[in-house]
Amino acid sequence: MAAFKSVLALFFFLLLISCSSGLHRGKRIRAHQPCKRLVFYFHDIIYNGKNAKNATAAIVGAPAWGNRTILAGQNHFGNLVVFDDPITLDNNLHSTPVGRAQGFYIYDKKDIFTAWLGFSFVFNSTQHRGSINFAGADPLMNKTRDISVIGGTGDFFMSRGVATLMTDAFEGEVYFRLRVDIKLYECW
Ligand SMILES: *[C@@H]1O[C@H](CO)[C@@H](O)[C@H](O)[C@H]1NC(C)=O
Ligand SMILES: *[C@@H]1O[C@H](CO)[C@@H](O)[C@H](O)[C@H]1NC(C)=O
Ligand SMILES: *[C@@H]1O[C@H](CO)[C@@H](O)[C@H](O)[C@H]1NC(C)=O
Ligand SMILES: *[C@@H]1O[C@H](CO)[C@@H](O)[C@H](O)[C@H]1NC(C)=O
Repeated sequence: MAAFKSVLALFFFLLLISCSSGLHRGKRIRAHQPCKRLVFYFHDIIYNGKNAKNATAAIVGAPAWGNRTILAGQNHFGNLVVFDDPITLDNNLHSTPVGRAQGFYIYDKKDIFTAWLGFSFVFNSTQHRGSINFAGADPLMNKTRDISVIGGTGDFFMSRGVATLMTDAFEGEVYFRLRVDIKLYECW
């Protein structure tokens, strides 16, 4: 009888543990409160044949009907651009950069202006050290677009969340500036 009671007690104990951990996990998903929020800007100057000195981005892939100096017609479909852009805390291109946004975007739809982004924020300053990795569809005609924060390293170890992008400035096909509002829902 005593043995049965202790087995029963153990059973309820294990049940309690599994319930409480399940509850904890459920809570974390339900509570849409970021554990960390950061806002940055980054500045993209696309090489256009004349600005080699200042350009921070280059067209490295073009469809057969285009070239690597000018973005192709039909909403730039088929272009692949690689960038190494300065990140600033405000919207001024000439502010002291706090890191670099490094990666690529591809234009992947003929009939609307849209892109796919894969890049990292790389920080090596006294404020932040490490990286945040981003990926996702960027429908450029939307005022704001959400992409995924798929991970991080250093200060951002194992971070995950969502980044809301907004085109803060757009000058021809040479310069654009994105505002990135990072909301992390998993922080370590
Ligand atoms: C490069 O940047 C400097 C400083 O912002 C600017 O004065 C100059 O006109 C730019 N040059 C080109 C070719 O865009
Ligand atoms: C690239 O394509 C554009 C638009 O078709 C054209 O005006 C330009 O001359 C081309 N440049 C080169 C280097 O082929
Ligand atoms: C980061 O900065 C430190 C100190 O300035 C430097 O020693 C280190 O090489 C840098 N690391 C990277 C990955 O740039
Ligand atoms: C873009 O905007 C449309 C319409 O407002 C919305 O349904 C869609 O979710 C948005 N896409 C992204 C990726 O934000």
